[in-house]
Amino acid sequence: MRALSRSLVAFGVIAVAAAIVLPTLSAPLRKQTRIRAEPRLQSLRPLAKPASQALLLPETQFGAPLPGLTPEQTTAFMTGLNAFVALENGASGLGPIFNNRSCVSCHGQPAVGGGSGIRVTRFGQTSNGVFNDLETLGGSLLQQNAIDPLAREIVPAQATTVALRQSTPVFGLGLIEAIPDETILANAEEQQSLGLNGVPSLVTDVVSGNTRVGRFGWKAQLATVLAFSGDAYLNEMGITNRLFPQENAPNGNAALLAQFDRVRDPEDRVDPLSGKGVIDVAADFMRYLGPPPVVQFTPSALQGRTLFEQTGCAGCHKPQMMTGPNSVQALSFKEVNLYSDLLLHDMGGLGDGIVQGTAGAREMKTAPLWGLRASAPYLHDGRALSVDQAIQAHDGEALASRNRYRALNATQRQQLLDFLNSI
Ligand code: HEC
Ligand code: HEC
Repeated sequence: MRALSRSLVAFGVIAVAAAIVLPTLSAPLRKQTRIRAEPRLQSLRPLAKPASQALLLPETQFGAPLPGLTPEQTTAFMTGLNAFVALENGASGLGPIFNNRSCVSCHGQPAVGGGSGIRVTRFGQTSNGVFNDLETLGGSLLQQNAIDPLAREIVPAQATTVALRQSTPVFGLGLIEAIPDETILANAEEQQSLGLNGVPSLVTDVVSGNTRVGRFGWKAQLATVLAFSGDAYLNEMGITNRLFPQENAPNGNAALLAQFDRVRDPEDRVDPLSGKGVIDVAADFMRYLGPPPVVQFTPSALQGRTLFEQTGCAGCHKPQMMTGPNSVQALSFKEVNLYSDLLLHDMGGLGDGIVQGTAGAREMKTAPLWGLRASAPYLHDGRALSVDQAIQAHDGEALASRNRYRALNATQRQQLLDFLNSI
C-alpha cells in the first residue's frame, strides 16, 4: 500500500513536471504541424527556460534522474522526457503501421520510463527446427495499428511461431550501457564453475558499426541506448530516422506502403541547432534516468539475500557489475545493482521460440531484477502474475535452481520474496 501511494505520488509529480514543460512546446508545435511537414524540428528546439530542478523527483522515487548530473545533463534529461511522453501523429511521421503513439504509453508504470503490461507480438515460421523471421511478410515484429485501416498488419497464415513480449522498464539504462563488454564476457567465463552456460549476445551496433555485446531487450538484441531508441521509433511508432531510415511495409506490401507513407524519410531529422534528432533526445532521457530506488532491507529480506545466493539465483542474476570510465561523471565507475549477468541462457520450454540476432529460439537474456516490485506481470510474455510464479516457470539451465527454490520451506520462500521486493 505504501509503495503504491508512493508511486502514485511519483507519477503525479512527473505529470506535473511534464504538464509544466509541455505547454511551452505543444502550442507552437501544433501550429507548425499545420503549416509545414517538418514538425519535428520544432519539437527539438531546446526549452527556452529549462524546467526547474526543483521539479525533479527525489532519488528515492521511480523516475528520478541519476544523481550527480550536471545542469546541462539535467536539461537534456527533461528535454528527453518531453520527447518520451510526446504523442506522435501522422504529420510527425507516425505509421503507416505502428504499435502505439508515444514511448510512455508502453513505458509509464509506475513512472515515466517504467514498463507496462502492454505486450507486442513477434511471429515467424519454424520448420524442421529452422526459424524464418518472415521478413518479406512483415516479420518478426507485428505492428498492430495503422494510420489507415487498409494498411493494417496481421499475423500471416504462414506463421507457426507467435510470441508475446512485455514492455520492460528503461530505468538505469545509462548505467547498463556503461558496463564494459569485457565485464559481461568475463561473467560467461566465471559462471562455468557453477555449471551455468550463459553466452554473450554479439551484435553489430548500428550506431558505431562495431561488434558489441548486446544487453537491451529480452534477447539482448541491442547494445546501445541510442540504437534501441532508433529501433523503437521505427518499429513501435513507424518514425524513420537516420539509424533506421526505411519504413516497415505492412506485411511486406510495398504498394500499400507507398499509398500511405506520406512523410518524407527520415521523418526524424537532425536539428542543426542542437545536432540532435528526437532519437538522440529520447536516448538522453533514458541514459540519464536513475536506477530503480532500493528499499531498506528488513531482517527477513537480509535472510532472503543469503537464500538468493544459496539457491543459485545469483549465478545468472548477478547482483552487481561496475561501469567503466565514462565521459558522463554520473555514469563513471559506478555500481550497477541490476541482478543480471546480461547473458543469454537456454531456458528450455520458457524460451519464446523466436531467433533474434545470435539468440536462439530457447535462449533468453537473464532479466534484470532491480525494481521487480513495480514491474508485474513477469517473464517475457507476462505470463507470471507473481514473482513466485515467475520463479516456478524457470526451466532449462535454471531447472536446478528452481528445484532448490521449490525445496525451501514457507518461511524461507517468504524471505526470498521479501528480498526480491526490496531490490
Ligand atoms: C507498443 C509498446 C511500446 C512502445 C510504444 C515502445 N516500447 Fe519500448 N519496449 C516495448 C517492449 C515490448 C520491449 C521489450 C522488447 C523486446 O525485447 O523484444 C521494449 C523495450 C525497450 C527498451 C529496452 C529496455 C531494456 O532494458 O532491455 C528500450 C530502451 C525501449 N523499449 C525504448 C523505447 C522508446 C525510446 C520508445 C519510444 C520511441 C519505446 N520504447 C516505445 C514496448 C514498447
Ligand atoms: C540459468 C540462469 C537463471 C537462473 C539460475 C535463475 N534465473 Fe531467473 N531468469 C533467467 C532468465 C533468462 C529470465 C527471463 C526469462 C523469460 O522471461 O523468458 C529470468 C527471469 C526471472 C524473473 C522474472 C523477471 C521479470 O522481470 O519478468 C524472476 C523474478 C527471476 N528470474 C527470479 C529468479 C530467482 C529467484 C532465481 C533463483 C531461485 C532465478 N531467477 C534463477 C535466468 C535465470
